[in-house]
Amino acid sequence: MATRPLEGKTALVTGGSRGVGAGIVARLAADGARVAFTYANSPQRAEAVAAAAAAHPIRADSLHEQDIEAAVAQTADRFGSLDILVNNAAVGTFATITDLKMAEIDAMLTINVRSVIVAIRESLAHMGSGGRIINIGSINADRTPFPGQSIYATTKGALASLTRGLARELAPRGITINNIQPGPIDTDANPADGPAASTMLGVMAMDRFGTAAEVGAFVSYLAGPDATYITGASLDIDGGFGA
Ligand SMILES: NC(=O)c1ccc[n+]([C@@H]2O[C@H](COP(=O)([O-])OP(=O)(O)OC[C@H]3O[C@@H](n4cnc5c(N)ncnc54)[C@H](OP(=O)(O)O)[C@@H]3O)[C@@H](O)[C@H]2O)c1
Repeated sequence: MATRPLEGKTALVTGGSRGVGAGIVARLAADGARVAFTYANSPQRAEAVAAAAAAHPIRADSLHEQDIEAAVAQTADRFGSLDILVNNAAVGTFATITDLKMAEIDAMLTINVRSVIVAIRESLAHMGSGGRIINIGSINADRTPFPGQSIYATTKGALASLTRGLARELAPRGITINNIQPGPIDTDANPADGPAASTMLGVMAMDRFGTAAEVGAFVSYLAGPDATYITGASLDIDGGFGA
């Protein structure tokens, strides 16, 4: 039987209770990693994900720096190391810049960008050579075909820049950092049968939404032993949304 590629590795995934994050937790665990994940508002769904993947749920609101610090410390304490950090938790409020409330803009900037910076900074204290950091950005960083996406796209563009900059700082430590940019993925945030689905399919090469499992497989590849020479990259998994 083939060895599972992430056997012996430890991982922390932010926002693992639902959607893409739950798919990432499931795949990393299936590939042999010991996995902790954060959640904020969905404790029952977090328990279900934890039970299915034998993963460790941590309540930690990405709005609060102390919650993220505690989640990283708890993961490192529990597993004795941290090899893989996946920054997945994010929110999107889609409205034009004049219609968005400042509180909504602040939440996107804080959860989607500031919390990622905090999680990376904290994780680096526990991550050695061979470490992998994977941000979940969005194809909207490169392509925003519809009005109402500007601030969300700004936060995902920031992740692409952060990834490039940190690649330079982390390569000497033997740590890679990459940014996965999904297109439409079927989740609560963007259901494949939702009101915006047909509009999105209209600008795509493939006539379907992606799945959380497909993103999980991409994350596992970047976290695994075959992805040693990839760093600083923003990599699309988007069914041709950006083509
Ligand atoms: N779905 C898409 O089409 C798509 C496309 C491009 C990029 N993405 C990116 O993929 C990632 C996941 O998206 P998704 O569609 O799976 O979203 P989702 O269905 O809304 O799930 C979001 C996840 O993040 C967690 N989360 C939200 N706010 C949080 C907070 N303040 N603190 C901690 N956790 C928090 C949620 O946990 P709780 O419910 O427990 O709070 C949940 O587990 C995001 O980075 C998103 O930008 C998604």
